[in-house]
Amino acid sequence: MFDKSLSRNKGSRSFSAVGTGDGHDLQYDPPPACIGNAIGIIDEPLRQRTADVPQPKKADAIRCAHFRNGSMAAMTAGIIERYAAYLPVTATTPRVTLGEGSTPLVRSSRIGPSIGIEQLYFKYEGLNPSGSFKDRGMAVATAKALEAGAQTLLCASTGNTSASASAYAARCGLRAVVVVPVGGIAAGKLAQALAYGATIVSVKSSFDAALKLVRQLADQPGVALVNSVNPFRIEGQKTGAFEIVEQLGHAPAQLFIPVGNGGNITAYWRGFGEIVMTAGGSAPRMHGAQAEGAAPLVRGRPVARPRTVASAIRIGNPASWAGAIAARDESGGTIESVSDAEIMAAHHRLAREEGLLVEPASAASVALLLRRTKARQVTEGGAIVCVLTGHGLKDPQALTRGLKMPRPVEPTLTAIRRALHA
Ligand code: F0G
Repeated sequence: MFDKSLSRNKGSRSFSAVGTGDGHDLQYDPPPACIGNAIGIIDEPLRQRTADVPQPKKADAIRCAHFRNGSMAAMTAGIIERYAAYLPVTATTPRVTLGEGSTPLVRSSRIGPSIGIEQLYFKYEGLNPSGSFKDRGMAVATAKALEAGAQTLLCASTGNTSASASAYAARCGLRAVVVVPVGGIAAGKLAQALAYGATIVSVKSSFDAALKLVRQLADQPGVALVNSVNPFRIEGQKTGAFEIVEQLGHAPAQLFIPVGNGGNITAYWRGFGEIVMTAGGSAPRMHGAQAEGAAPLVRGRPVARPRTVASAIRIGNPASWAGAIAARDESGGTIESVSDAEIMAAHHRLAREEGLLVEPASAASVALLLRRTKARQVTEGGAIVCVLTGHGLKDPQALTRGLKMPRPVEPTLTAIRRALHA
C-alpha cells in the first residue's frame, strides 16, 4: 500500500532517485549533502595522516559480480532491492544484502495498556542480521563502496557499527578496519567483529576522539568510511521509516528513538519526510532519547566525558548534531535525557512484560516514553512507535546485571521441586 502510493507520485521533488517502473533503470542525482568522492567521505579538511590503513593484497574479482548475477534470487529481498527507487543506487550498484530490514513491528501487549496507551508498537531492529539497525545503512554504504572500487570499510564505533561493517565486509570480500574506544564497547559486539574477521584497533580515548581519527584516515584510495557521516548510511537507515508506514498503514503520531551520534533520528526524519511529500499524510513527532550522562543535545553543548550504562550511545559530540536538532524542531518533538536507572527499568520491562530483549541504549526510547507518560506529556492519541535499535544478547554484562544465576542441583525430582519453591 505504501509502495503503491509512492509510485503514484514518482518524480516528486522529495526524491532525487527516479525509478522507471521496474526498479532497474534508475537515474540518480546525488543530493548536495553527498560529499564528492563516494569513498573517502570527510566533511572537514584533512589536517594530518596519523597512519596508513593497510589494504588487502588483491581485490576479490568475483565479489561485485556475485551481487549482480542473480545468485541472490532465493534470498529474502534486502533493503536495496525493495527500495531501489528511493535510494541513491543505479542498475549497476551491487545489490549487497544479508537480508536486512523487514523487521517486525510488535504491538505492545502489556506496557502500553499499563500506561493507558492503546496503540503502542516496538520496531524490533535487533532482528537485523548483525543485530542492529546499522545493517540497513551498511548495506547501502557497502554497495556504494564496492561500486566505487573500495577494498576496505573503515569506521569508529561504540559497537554496533563495527559489528555491522565487519559482517558486510566479510560478505563482500572486503577488509574491515574498526577503531573502538577502550572499555567503551560491549563484549558481545567486540567478539562479533572479531569473529567476522575485522581488524580491530582499540584506542585509549572516547568514541568522539576515535571518530575524529578515522575521519582523518579515510582520505586514502580504496578506503570507504562507513560511519553515519557517510550519506549512504543515512539513506539506507531511512527505510526503517518506510517499513513502519507500510506496517501500520500510515505514519505513527509519535516516534521515540535513542540518540547517540544523531544519524538514526536524522534518517528516520528524512524517511518520514519523503513519504509525506510523496504520498501525503502527516509525519510523527520525533522524540529523541539521550542518556543523562551523555546528553549533549539536551544540554546544547558537547560533553567531554560522557558516561552511561548504555555504551552504544555514550557519545559526547554527535556528528549529526544539526540533523538531530532539525528532526526535533521540524517535527515539533523533543530530545530529552533519561537516567541509567530509567533505562535499565525500561530494559527490564521490555524483557519481562513484552518478551523483547534489547540492549540498554535501545531501552532509552521506552524509558523516555514512560517518563513522558508519567509526567502526563503524552496527551494526543494515535499510534506510538518506539524504535528498539539493537539486540540484548550483544551486551551480556548489562543483561545479567541484577540477575541471580541458578545453582546446579542433583538430577532428582525432589531436588527440582525444592529448587522451584526456593
Ligand atoms: N542504539 C544503538 C543500539 C546504537 O548502536 C546506536 C549507535 C544508537 C542507538 C544511536 O544511533 O548514533 O545514529 O544516533 N551506535 C553507534 C555505533 C554510534 O558505533 O555503533 P545514532
